[in-house]
Amino acid sequence: MKVLGFESSCDETGVALVEFEGQGAPRLLAEALHSQIVMHQAYGGVVPELASRDHIRRVLPLTREVMKQAGCSLAEVDVIAYTQGPGLAGALLVGAGVAVSLAAALGKPAVAVHHLEGHLLSPFLSEDPPEFPFVALLVSGGHTQLMRVDEVGSYELLGETIDDAAGEAFDKSAKLLGLPYPGGPHLAKLAEAGNAEAFALPRPLLHSGKPDFSFAGLKTAVLTQRNKLGEAMTEQQRADLAASTQAAIVEVLLKKALLALKETGLKRLVVAGGVGANKALREQLDKACAKRGVRVHYPELRLCTDNGAMIAMAAALRLQRGTAACSGSGAFEVRPRWSLDRIS
Ligand code: KG4
Ligand code: ZN
Repeated sequence: MKVLGFESSCDETGVALVEFEGQGAPRLLAEALHSQIVMHQAYGGVVPELASRDHIRRVLPLTREVMKQAGCSLAEVDVIAYTQGPGLAGALLVGAGVAVSLAAALGKPAVAVHHLEGHLLSPFLSEDPPEFPFVALLVSGGHTQLMRVDEVGSYELLGETIDDAAGEAFDKSAKLLGLPYPGGPHLAKLAEAGNAEAFALPRPLLHSGKPDFSFAGLKTAVLTQRNKLGEAMTEQQRADLAASTQAAIVEVLLKKALLALKETGLKRLVVAGGVGANKALREQLDKACAKRGVRVHYPELRLCTDNGAMIAMAAALRLQRGTAACSGSGAFEVRPRWSLDRIS
């Protein structure tokens, strides 16, 4: 069975084709991605209206590219999957509109996918997919959550951020340091030359005893330090502040992930979402988990951030279990706000 997946929830247009036979592991046949980052950089963040318009421009050429790469025609596609939410309403409408119309034109079912479920299941696209059950650390630009995952579709929220997401903390701190959007990877790069102990930044809720997070205070602390240093801030101090910021975020994510593993007694951790690409986070998680006999799974680096492959994969895994949200009516709705533990 061939599943064509569309992702358009934020600033990446992703299209991908995944194939599976019976209960065999789905495999990626082809994928194409267009990132709008350069377009939004001029504004220091994502401009929703520009994002929607760009998705419209990109989605069909990317679809043609995927079909060409895979060497098959749209008539050979069995199911069309799309991100239904959460995300920017206008951006979601583009992917959903194209996917559902295409499905109606081809007389095939359309499957709605939760964006975070896509991230969560993205390690199934790797050579070494995880086994259930596991603890998932979801760290993206909009979400920071720890979940217990017993099966595809069975997600128990263990804890989440009460304010900013980890990616947001990276991005807002990076902006304060004069780095371009999205700041996470830029801040991580600058941190390589810095001393992580140079500035004592807060680790909110670190000792709350619960797997919850709070990152809003961190950007205020970064702002205070930056203002204290003012114009006289040297390149070394800038790198030190970046390294100290990264260390604070990573320490909180690490401690809370370990707490969730301890609470659930599970020995497997899946890290997903854009911040999962962070090298310092990966190094520290690997080290701490190895000590505790916990296996850590990551998506491939390029699949950490938004992409169509994870959407096609999530739909494929649900189709295999008979739990996909199929519709053939041509009607659709998007869900800009949608919690993952609410899905069935
Ligand atoms: O999952 P994602 O592509 O989009 C959302 O669904 O939000 O995540 C994007 C986030 C951004 O905040 C970006 O700065 C962050 O992931 N990010 C990183 C790194 N690569 C991406 N943060 C820290 N280190 C990185 N290497
Ligand atoms: Zn995402």
